[in-house]
Amino acid sequence: MGIISKNISKAVTLLNNEELVAIPTETVYGLAGNIYSEKAIKLIFETKERPFFNPLIVHIPSVDYLENIVDEIPEKAKLLVEAFWPGPITLVLKKKDIIPDLITAGKDTVAVRMPNHSMTLELLRQLDFPLAAPSANPFNRISPTKPEHVEQYFKNKIKMVLDGGPCVSGIESTIIGFEDDQPIIYRLGSTPIEVIENAIGKIKVKNKKDISPKAPGMLARHYAPKTKTILTKYLLESIKEHQGKRIGLLIFNDNFNIENIDFKIVLSQENNLQEAASNLYDALHQLDEQELDIIIAERLPDYGLGKSINDRLERATK
Ligand code: TXA
Ligand code: MG
Repeated sequence: MGIISKNISKAVTLLNNEELVAIPTETVYGLAGNIYSEKAIKLIFETKERPFFNPLIVHIPSVDYLENIVDEIPEKAKLLVEAFWPGPITLVLKKKDIIPDLITAGKDTVAVRMPNHSMTLELLRQLDFPLAAPSANPFNRISPTKPEHVEQYFKNKIKMVLDGGPCVSGIESTIIGFEDDQPIIYRLGSTPIEVIENAIGKIKVKNKKDISPKAPGMLARHYAPKTKTILTKYLLESIKEHQGKRIGLLIFNDNFNIENIDFKIVLSQENNLQEAASNLYDALHQLDEQELDIIIAERLPDYGLGKSINDRLERATK
């Protein structure tokens, strides 16, 4: 018997027993455990081989639940919650004492979101505690957007992946913190900047490519295939440069008619950034299985979700 299952009651039982369950969200699959169980939280870090300095996102069942775990909610945070929850925006807010230091890596803030996936919301409603859930991939590897991706990574390490189908958004949530009550984007993600600015006005981005004290998870190399990957606007030139090698192509639409390529994936025939985002990680998983010498990825248009996709591809090339 595989570990992929749609049985929510089974997930409830495992989580109540301080075990881990991989859960579906609209963004990527998460590796979930009880935020109040030291055993479960340590197991999350161990299973992912994730360093303890990298704090976790807390997943809650409702908007009202927020005040149980955070102390101060700036006006603009309230607007974001109203506009986008449930949905792919994570807020970094001042934590209540009840939130364990292991979750926040000792910080006085906690990252929190209400995911937009009916099965996981149902699961959260049936539990007496929120779920800590980092993406369900080993540290620095490609995030999972299908139950099978998680199974491949962790089939010998966890007992269950709750099967909620493929993730519709396909890249992680946008993370927003507050400095002097002003909102700042710490990680580009599934909710584009332009859409956020429509709701709350101008917002700064501190999406550093190095180890930043604000979001230590935003390491330069992340979301990475094992195959060497490059990102370019100039596909034809890059292909020429690497002639003779086994090349995999990751391209936005199929405008070019490119021949002599060993493996090619088109992210969106329709030229649609949302479709491209939802296909991105599965495409990288597939490319990584082909034993290629190099993956040449096309840089997408630099607006909306294109910015977030380019961010992930840049980190995949480091
Ligand atoms: O879409 C998502 O957000 C997915 C799904 C499963 O919900 N989760 C996810 O978690 O991407 P993870 O652990 O892969 O990324 C969490 C990010 C890390 O970059 C971490 O550094 C940042 O959130 N983070 C967590 N707590 C923080 C805090 N208190 N201050 C700043 N950054 C924080
Ligand atoms: Mg991650």
